[in-house]
Amino acid sequence: MILLAIETSCDETAAAVVRDGREVLSSVISSQVAIHADYGGVVPEIASRKHLESIVPVINRALHDAAIGMDALEGVAVTRGPGLSGALLVGFSVAKAIAAARKIPFVAVHHTEGHLFAPMLEQPVAFPFLALVVSGGHTHLYHVAGFGHYTTLGRTIDDAAGEAYDKCAKIMGMPYPGGALIDQMAQNGNPDAIRLPRPMLRDGTCNFSFSGLKTAVLQHIQKHPVTVPGRDADDLCASFQEAVCHLLAAKTEAAIRQIGATRLVVAGGVACNSGLRSRMKELCGKLGVELFIPHPSLCGDNAAMLAVPGDYYLSNGHVSSLSLDVTTTWNMDSIKESLS
Ligand code: KG4
Ligand code: ZN
Repeated sequence: MILLAIETSCDETAAAVVRDGREVLSSVISSQVAIHADYGGVVPEIASRKHLESIVPVINRALHDAAIGMDALEGVAVTRGPGLSGALLVGFSVAKAIAAARKIPFVAVHHTEGHLFAPMLEQPVAFPFLALVVSGGHTHLYHVAGFGHYTTLGRTIDDAAGEAYDKCAKIMGMPYPGGALIDQMAQNGNPDAIRLPRPMLRDGTCNFSFSGLKTAVLQHIQKHPVTVPGRDADDLCASFQEAVCHLLAAKTEAAIRQIGATRLVVAGGVACNSGLRSRMKELCGKLGVELFIPHPSLCGDNAAMLAVPGDYYLSNGHVSSLSLDVTTTWNMDSIKESLS
């Protein structure tokens, strides 16, 4: 089945053409990051307007790159939520319009569901597996029994890991989004230079908390101002990264032990992080767990990842109604009920 996948949940307008939920024929991502950087974060109104301008050219480009026409499409998969409602509406409406006009099936996919299946665009991953999804909006541990069958084992009770990175970068006077830059600077710094807290490390749950870490960075800077670029800033970035990776690895280890997982997927924008990637390799090596982390190009928001669950749903008769609307809150654990 040749699917067109569309993603517009935040600040990336993306479209992809994917065959059989595996073979990426094209993947186009138009990022608005430079526009939002001026405001220090994503401005919802601007995001919707930019999606409106970009969506048709991005889809046309994806069809062109895949060397196919609209008539070759056999289905459309699109992010329904969570995300910014005005942004989601753009991709969702266009996807419904294409499905209606071409008389092809349409399927609504959870944004996080896309992230956690991104590794399957590179290689098969057998069920069940544990998934750590770390992005600007999510830090969740899921037990994944099959497509649509997710159980949340742990989640952040405040900021997401990517949000913590971006807030820390902002405190240090760095541009939005700061995750990748902190990662880069951390590689030149000393991770033991500054003692930062490890919130909820030993609370006996698989939940996370990152907001105290951000406050600790702010308090440190108030006492010891840092200059970017500079040695002190590198040390602060390395110490921050060490704290985040320590927390993510410790809670992931707790979840692995809790369910006896033999496979781990790490996905989402923060899965690009060099410290997290090496920490997870180390952890999985120690526990004898098979690790799947997508190539960095598939970690951040893209449309191709949606085609993996999208293809499964459409191939198994789970077609979404054209009367469906977007949703800004959508519990992954509730998806299984809509499939039965
Ligand atoms: O998955 P994504 O592209 O969008 C969301 O669904 O949120 O993730 C974006 C997040 C941002 O917070 C960004 O700062 C973070 O991923 N990020 C990183 C790195 N690259 C992107 N965080 C830490 N280290 C990186 N190398
Ligand atoms: Zn995302």
